[in-house]
Amino acid sequence: MHNETFDETHDETDDVTHDVTLLPGDGIGPEISRTVLDILEAAGAPIRWHECVGGVTALETVGEPLPQATLDSIETTAVALKGPLTTPIGSGFRSVNVALRKHFDLFANVRPALTLLPSARYPGVDLVIVRENTEGLYAGIEHFIGMENDPRAVAESVMLITRYGSRRIVRFAFEYALAHGRRLVTLVHKANILKYTQGLFLEVGRQVAAEYEGRVEFDDRIVDATAMQLVLDPYQFDVIVTENMFGDILSDLAAGLIGGLGFAPGANLGERAAIFEAVHGSAPDIAGRGIANPTSLLLASCLMLDHLGETSTAARIRAALRRTLDEGAARTPDIGGTARTAEFGEAVIERLEGDTA
Ligand code: NAI
Repeated sequence: MHNETFDETHDETDDVTHDVTLLPGDGIGPEISRTVLDILEAAGAPIRWHECVGGVTALETVGEPLPQATLDSIETTAVALKGPLTTPIGSGFRSVNVALRKHFDLFANVRPALTLLPSARYPGVDLVIVRENTEGLYAGIEHFIGMENDPRAVAESVMLITRYGSRRIVRFAFEYALAHGRRLVTLVHKANILKYTQGLFLEVGRQVAAEYEGRVEFDDRIVDATAMQLVLDPYQFDVIVTENMFGDILSDLAAGLIGGLGFAPGANLGERAAIFEAVHGSAPDIAGRGIANPTSLLLASCLMLDHLGETSTAARIRAALRRTLDEGAARTPDIGGTARTAEFGEAVIERLEGDTA
């Protein structure tokens, strides 16, 4: 489908059709993508899909994990919905997810944690973690230092924090808060111990926060205390902004509060492109059996619809999903039922109602 012509429809008019790159992904990816596409189509989402491959599927079909055609498509559409991609342990290729983030400089990773599952441990959680996606220890600047006969006597890793990167992620968090009617941004750090790197992140964060004074509240917290507070009382948080590794860990913690990775969508955002995905992986243990829960990818597709300005369609899908979960209809095995992926999709489609806008 790569060769379809792109027309100039990325504007604010009512009858826009959006061109979006679709990477169905590996493992359970194609199964959950199929169901998500069926739901989006039933909801009338005006999208023209440009299907591409990535990961193991791409390696097997076109001989490389991240084909140029896939990069070109995302370059053109600037928006992608991505199923999970397998990164084989120990073998050849680097994570395609990381490569995509680097290629398109997707510096902001936005992960909302919203309780939808009635049986989740914490009802009514509604917070968002904004994670810096390119710097910190995950920049991957590390090496060994040899001593005597041991070439790996010491391992060293650099925590890269730049003024530029800190400013743009904290500013992003404040702009996100304004755009989504959020009241509070909490900057999470470890500046008490890491005085230079985390100290710079905090210093820049406070400067940016001053620009938003009177519009969005601000506070800052140490990461270990934040982890405890998230478990004790997640309701005190609204938007959390933090560096790469802390964001990785805290967003999984937040997913645990609301029912697990099956309910966690993520958006990777930059100036040039936006890639929406489920937080979970390709689940090889259940792949091909048609029993995966498509909720995370469906929620990711709702974030994508919001990004495209199709907010009422996103709201209708979220409402139908909420009704499906509230009624316990067509539960897949991971949430205690026996339904298949497609049956869950049909249950959501049955509960789609008229325009809520
Ligand atoms: P995983 O998230 O794929 O699976 C962990 C457990 O959760 C498994 O028992 C799986 O069956 C279950 N699970 C995950 N998603 C589910 C769903 N939608 N419905 C029902 N059950 C679900 O994590 P794992 O096994 O560590 O990784 C498998 C592969 O996925 C690896 O190659 C890894 O690199 C890749 N991965 C890719 C990600 C991405 O593309 N964004 C993110 C995380 C992992």
